[in-house]
Amino acid sequence: MAQPDINDIIIIAKQAGLILREGYEKHHDIKMKTRQDDLVTEMDKKSENFIMERINAMWPGHTIITEETGTHTGDTEHAWYIDPCDGTMNYAHGLPLFAVSIGYACKGELVKGVVYDPMRDECFYAEKGKGAFLNGKPIHASERTDLKHSLFITGFSIKVMEEKGINNFAAFEHFMRTTAGVRRTGVAALEIAYVACGRIDGMWSLKLCAWDVAAGFVIAKEAGVKITALDGRSDAFKGPYYDFIIANPELHTALFEELKPYHIVL
Ligand code: IPD
Ligand code: CA
Ligand code: CA
Repeated sequence: MAQPDINDIIIIAKQAGLILREGYEKHHDIKMKTRQDDLVTEMDKKSENFIMERINAMWPGHTIITEETGTHTGDTEHAWYIDPCDGTMNYAHGLPLFAVSIGYACKGELVKGVVYDPMRDECFYAEKGKGAFLNGKPIHASERTDLKHSLFITGFSIKVMEEKGINNFAAFEHFMRTTAGVRRTGVAALEIAYVACGRIDGMWSLKLCAWDVAAGFVIAKEAGVKITALDGRSDAFKGPYYDFIIANPELHTALFEELKPYHIVL
C-alpha cells in the first residue's frame, strides 16, 4: 500500500487544530488522568476522534497509536502516532500554546510528521529525504555551536514528576546559570519543531511518549538536527518512554557532554 500524502496529513492536522481553536477559552470539561498535572478535556477527545475518523476513512487498516484511546492495532507496516492536543494544561488554562501532532511510520521507520499550532497558524512538516518546512518555507537547525550563547528548552514530563530518582531540576539549574537560558513551554511537539526551525538551539527531555515526539523527530531530522537518546544511542525512537537530546551536530556534542553528569537513564 502506498504511503499517505503529506498534503493530506497537513489538511487533517489543520482541521483538528481548528477544532481546538474554536473551543479555545470556552468552558471545558476538564478531567484529571493520573495526577493534577495530567489533564484531558472534551476537546482533546473531539480532536482525536476527528483525526482517527479521517485516517480510518483514508487509509483503512493502519495501526493508530493515540494519547487518549491507546493502540488500535491494524497493519503494523503503517503506524500513526497522534497527539490530538499537545499542551492540554495550557489549553485548559486558556494559554495559547498547544499543537496537534501527527507522525507516521512505515515498516517501523518514522517518515512523515506534521505539527500544527492553530493559534499562530504555523504548520511544521516534513517527509523523509525531502527537507522540513514551516508554512511552505524550508527550515533549518540553528548554527550556534557554543553552549554559553545558546538558548535551550527542556521539559518535566508527568513520568519525570511522578518517579523518584529521575531529576531534571539540577540540569535545568546548571543550564539556566551557564547558558543564554532554558525555556519550558509544556508542548513537547512544538518545542522539537522550534529546534527544527532554529528558534531554539537545543533541547533535552526525559520520559516522553511516542505521540509527543514522533512527528517532531521527522521534522527535526529533516531540518539537520541531530537526534540521540540521552545515553547517546542513535535510535532515539525506542519506547516505551523517550529520552533525547537534539541540536545541530556540533552543539549536540557539547550538550551531550554537559548533560552527562545530570541524568541517570533508567
Ligand atoms: C505533555 C506535553 C509536555 C510534556 C508532558 C506531556 P499533553 O503532553 O508534551 O511538554 O512535558 O509530559 O504529557 O499531555 O499536553 O499532551
Ligand atoms: Ca495530548
Ligand atoms: Ca503530549
